[in-house]
Amino acid sequence: MEVVIQANTDAATELVARIVAREVQTNPRAVLGLATGRTMETVYARLVQMHRSEGLDFSACRTFNLDEYVGLAGTDRHSYRHYMDQHLFRQVNIDLRNTHLPDGAAADMRSECEKYERLIAEAGGIGLQLLGIGHSGHIGFNEPPSPPGSRTRVVALAAATIRQNTPIFGGAEKMPRRAITMGVGTILECRRCILLATGDDKAEIIAKALKGPLTSMIPASALQLHPDCLAVLDEAAAACLKELQKV
Ligand code: GLP
Repeated sequence: MEVVIQANTDAATELVARIVAREVQTNPRAVLGLATGRTMETVYARLVQMHRSEGLDFSACRTFNLDEYVGLAGTDRHSYRHYMDQHLFRQVNIDLRNTHLPDGAAADMRSECEKYERLIAEAGGIGLQLLGIGHSGHIGFNEPPSPPGSRTRVVALAAATIRQNTPIFGGAEKMPRRAITMGVGTILECRRCILLATGDDKAEIIAKALKGPLTSMIPASALQLHPDCLAVLDEAAAACLKELQKV
């Protein structure tokens, strides 16, 4: 895995936004895999700016998000559909019919998971997948243990994830306990992956994921198997990696 360490969060975010923009410019029908979370908010803000000031054109793009909370409809303000609408989709010229997230309110979760995998395959697979990382070591919502071959499915959220995302919901009791997520295997099939991590709270888990042993207990470590994965970090998120390199 290639690792790029930027001086600060802004520079890390800018680099990732530029890579996404280049993908869209070189292939207007790009199939983008998108992620949510606080880290991605500034990436989307930059893409919106590029759309407004440089004419970055999303009109033919297709997108697939990694995950959604089970039990939340897209109209719920805590849903990832709402997040994406707010931060990106409604701010650029993407055709909403080409934007996909798993339906957290689907009546039949098993067929929803199968449908999601089918839609990705019918789009020709994901060209560029954006990833963040959770404190539990998750990518998407692949909580430990998530084997490298796992597919889109419903998972129980880890305690660390509930702690990490409780502030957004304003109370642990309001947080959904399950999510529907692309599997680690689904993610590994994306042609190119970019993992973005910023801030010192990510430093320990980043060192484990990037330099530790491959283990389903740190699902992000499976990215070491990917032939084209770039990790973009700021200095703070890279702190423990640098410690390792000194030893
Ligand atoms: C959620 C998402 C993940 C994301 C993670 C990181 O749990 N399901 O895909 O990587 O948040 O969140 P943040 O960027 O807020 O640290």
